[in-house]
Amino acid sequence: MTKKVVVTRQIKEEHLKQLKEKFEVFMWDSAGDPMPKEKFLEEMEDADAALTMLSEKVDAEMFGTAKNLKVVSNLAVGFDNIDLDAAAENGVTITNTPEVLTETTAELAFTLMLTSARRIIEANRELERGDWTGWSPYHMAGTDVYGKTVGIFGMGAIGAAFARRLKGFDCRVIYHNRSESKYAADLDAELVSFDELLEQSDFVLCAAPLTDETKYKFDKEAFNKMQPHAHFINIGRGAHVVEADLKEAVESGEIAAAALDVFDGEPISKDHPFIGMDNMTLLPHIGSASVATRDNMVQLCVDNITRVLEGEQPLTEVK
Ligand code: DGY
Repeated sequence: MTKKVVVTRQIKEEHLKQLKEKFEVFMWDSAGDPMPKEKFLEEMEDADAALTMLSEKVDAEMFGTAKNLKVVSNLAVGFDNIDLDAAAENGVTITNTPEVLTETTAELAFTLMLTSARRIIEANRELERGDWTGWSPYHMAGTDVYGKTVGIFGMGAIGAAFARRLKGFDCRVIYHNRSESKYAADLDAELVSFDELLEQSDFVLCAAPLTDETKYKFDKEAFNKMQPHAHFINIGRGAHVVEADLKEAVESGEIAAAALDVFDGEPISKDHPFIGMDNMTLLPHIGSASVATRDNMVQLCVDNITRVLEGEQPLTEVK
């Protein structure tokens, strides 16, 4: 019997075609709107594979419904939307998309850091409001990244790609991981405790995976330990941060600014408490969003699904 693949968001014809040549495919025909949960569960009932996004909850309920399921291929390096224990109990292989998105995501992290340091959003808003009255010595004066101490929470592949870029800015790089990172030696980056990272950094980047250990790690206590001129940048997951504590830290001047690509509960609405704050740079989760990288991510998902359904080892399995 032809195997069935569920694709939960619109993908390009060139990728879809590869799946259709071998399998029956149900694709949710919207690029923007996620597949409603009921429809997802209904389509998964007889599915052998799924190409999912981080917006899908791949949970015990789904695994209970999808009796034929062999592989879930998640279009992200993160997989906090997937219940890995339930996957293992049901014998389902999980794959993600590491490596292909590393440089693109590091570039976005760097963009956020520079944008925050040089008050780009605030300056642009002023100009667009028609409030620019002319040049003056300290008008919109920001801070330099050059020569500063940058602390990376989560020195994995993306953290390391970010650190490599810092070399050109003559920065001191410190990082916090559970243990020494395999990337650190080449980068001249120093492993420090979480408190040292907070206390010494001029810029703190969160690039860690979301786990029970890292969830809500950036709370009131953490922001208290940061320097008043420090900037906090998050490209990990929104749930690394207690958002109310971050708002208070930025408002009270405990830290200078924050630049965020991710939020605890996405998408956020225009009523979100961060909206409109001058020292907040906010982006709608576009870390890996270059066309070439998204093409590579989708292709990797297609390859992983095809390999598992044809009895081969996937290329990038989440262990
Ligand atoms: C990931 O890969 O986990 C990103 O957050 C998606 O862009």
